[in-house]
Parts: sequence; structure tokens; C-alpha cells
Amino acid sequence: MASISTYVAGLDKALDGGIPEGNTVLIVGGPGTMKSTFAYSVLHRNAMNGTPGLFVSLEQPASDVVQKMAALGMPPLPEDKLYVMDMSQLRLALRDKEKEKDWIKILSKLFEEAVNAGGYRLFVLDSLEVLYAIVEFKEVRRELFHFVGMLKELGFTPLLVAEVPLGAPAREGRPEDFLADGIILLEQFPVGAMGVQLRMRCVKMRGSHHDRGYFLIDWEGGKFLATKAIQQ
Ligand SMILES: Nc1ncnc2c1ncn2[C@@H]1O[C@H](COP(=O)(O)OP(=O)(O)O)[C@@H](O)[C@H]1O
Ligand SMILES: [Mg+2]
Repeated sequence: MASISTYVAGLDKALDGGIPEGNTVLIVGGPGTMKSTFAYSVLHRNAMNGTPGLFVSLEQPASDVVQKMAALGMPPLPEDKLYVMDMSQLRLALRDKEKEKDWIKILSKLFEEAVNAGGYRLFVLDSLEVLYAIVEFKEVRRELFHFVGMLKELGFTPLLVAEVPLGAPAREGRPEDFLADGIILLEQFPVGAMGVQLRMRCVKMRGSHHDRGYFLIDWEGGKFLATKAIQQ
């Protein structure tokens, strides 16, 4: 099966090449664990290497995302390579909801138009929590299942950002967990008395003989470095 490189060297190796194409992958972590940066960097690097992507930002206006990511070393790309769509576009589309009632159909049309125009193959939703806040789910599992099905039908490999509240216990019973083909976890963890480091691990990845171990994550010169954490 073809795989999508994350362009994070250690992670691609752990994933046995990358994310199998078409897999729905949750990017899970607490606030400030660089979930948005990671998701954007996967799209940015793929876009520069010929695989265009659509980044749907529900947490920040598109212009803020582009600007912040540029400051982190990922310069803006033309819309046909990396298209950042934000809440205002979604809200505008969802205004028809009164007439149509089905939010998935409305978003499907919006994303289909984008795919037809730009041929996007990768998709990021940042974040699921905000989607839960703006769309009234009646049956969350069923609706999420259809939402993800719609993204796959459009040919996307969907990456969905899921935020864990700070200090929350282990995630249990999250509605999105059941539909994930893959889960990549980002965590801040204490080092010594004062320090904090960032680590990442692949919890699950269907279709890949992956490594489950932790990687230390560093952001340098516009890209992530992942090094295998060695037990001290
Ligand atoms: N090594 C680093 N270099 C640059 N910025 C960093 C670094 N480590 C953390 N940051 C900062 O971390 C913040 C959080 O990243 P973000 O992707 O927004 O996290 P999340 O989406 O998980 O809340 C960013 O604003 C970024 O500026
Ligand atoms: Mg974020």
C-alpha cells in the first residue's frame, strides 16, 4: 500500500515508511504539544513534494495559521499546494443548514469543490473539539463515522487533531477513538526538577508494522527531529 511520508525521519521509520494512504489518523495531545504545528508540517512538506493538502482550521483564522507557521520556518505556499480554510468559510457554508439540515452534506460539498479545484490529497481538521462545539451532533458516533467516510470518499488521508485537556486522566470513551485507523500521541513530560520535553509515539497504525516506542521531538530550522528515547 502507498504511504504518506510525515517527513519526520524517526517517525517515518517507526511507521515503516509513513502513514498508509487513506488511513484516518488522530493527532492527540494536550495544549501546547505542537499538534497544530505537526499537522501543518505534514501538509507543508508533502505539498512541497507534490502532494497538495487542505488544512481546515477551526481554532484560528487562516491568516493567523499561515503567519504563525511561517514564523516557525514554513513559508506560505500557493493555494493549489496548501489551502488553509478556516471557520468563517465553514460557517458561511453551514448557514444553509436550516434548509438542508445535514451538516455532513454541506461540508462534503465545500470540500468537494476544493478538491475539484486543487486536487488535494491530504486533509487536516484542527480540531475535533471545535467541530463538536459548532456542529450539533445528535448521534456523535454515527455522524463522525459518516464524516470520516465522506473524507475518504473524496480521496483524502484525513488527519484529525484531538485535544486532551491539561491534567486530564487517560483518554477513555472518546467518540473519535473507535474510527481511527491510526493514533499519534504527543506529550509534554517533565525532565529533572524544572525541565519539560516533548515526546511522540505511534499508539496505533492499521496496515503498518510500527514501532510503539517514544521519540523525543525537537523543532529546529523549520522541521521536526524525532530521536528514539532511550530508557535511562
Ligand atoms: N522548538 C520550538 N521552536 C519553536 N516553537 C516552539 C518550539 N517548541 C514549542 N514551540 C511553540 O509551541 C507552541 C505550541 O504549538 P502548537 O502547534 O500550537 O500546539 P498545539 O496545537 O498542540 O496546542 C507554538 O506556538 C510554538 O511557537
Ligand atoms: Mg493547536
